[in-house]
Amino acid sequence: MMRMDKLLANMGYGSRKEVKSLLKQGAITVNGSQVKSPSIHVDEKKDIVQVNGETVEYREFIYLMMHKPPGLVSATEDKRDETVVDILQTEDRIFEPFPVGRLDKDTEGLLLLTNDGTLAHQLLSPKKHVPKLYYARIEGEVTEETIEQFHQGVTLDDGYETKPAILNILEAGSVSEIEVTITEGKFHQVKRMFEAVGMEVVYLKRLRMGSLELDEDLELGEYRELSDDELSKLIQDTKKS
Ligand code: URA
Repeated sequence: MMRMDKLLANMGYGSRKEVKSLLKQGAITVNGSQVKSPSIHVDEKKDIVQVNGETVEYREFIYLMMHKPPGLVSATEDKRDETVVDILQTEDRIFEPFPVGRLDKDTEGLLLLTNDGTLAHQLLSPKKHVPKLYYARIEGEVTEETIEQFHQGVTLDDGYETKPAILNILEAGSVSEIEVTITEGKFHQVKRMFEAVGMEVVYLKRLRMGSLELDEDLELGEYRELSDDELSKLIQDTKKS
């Protein structure tokens, strides 16, 4: 159960004050009967609330897939930089989604935003080993030896030994193109793994997180809700260990 003014404000029908005025105007019905009090409690799962005849679809959680552009920080607020939440439409931002894990400011690609703290926590838990696939361009020649080093795990600048990572060379040269799968999410992990073997990441894009794949129809900076299928597979990913 929740208060009518809170429910409508949460669903984007304006501030509590604006919602009060809608109620006063007689615009709101619950199960067909007009209601005027903002403090009336409704069962958001069962009661049919209508605003000017339009049924309010209540839901608690939102799950968004963004094709993160470079230049935005993966945070909900930042003093200096624009954040990934800043570019959401108001109708989505009212759910207060946050990014699940961080992509660096200059990193592009798949970013999940949700207000489902439980799912976010599970996806990020080191115990769950949810794999993340990145595409990168590397300054330096990536070789079979690099593949082997990544397979063994490398030692980062702070002494941390990474878990094995699967490296796949797409194009070798003075600038190489690769794909890498990691199961951890240390700060700047991919960049620091290449640093550990004397190379530099010059472009980085996340393509996949668990079963969730970046929709290439999304332009940089665009986002959409996950489909039911994408969401249920992602939930499955957190059940494996
Ligand atoms: N690894 C990095 O170095 N940066 C990212 O943004 C993601 C993984």
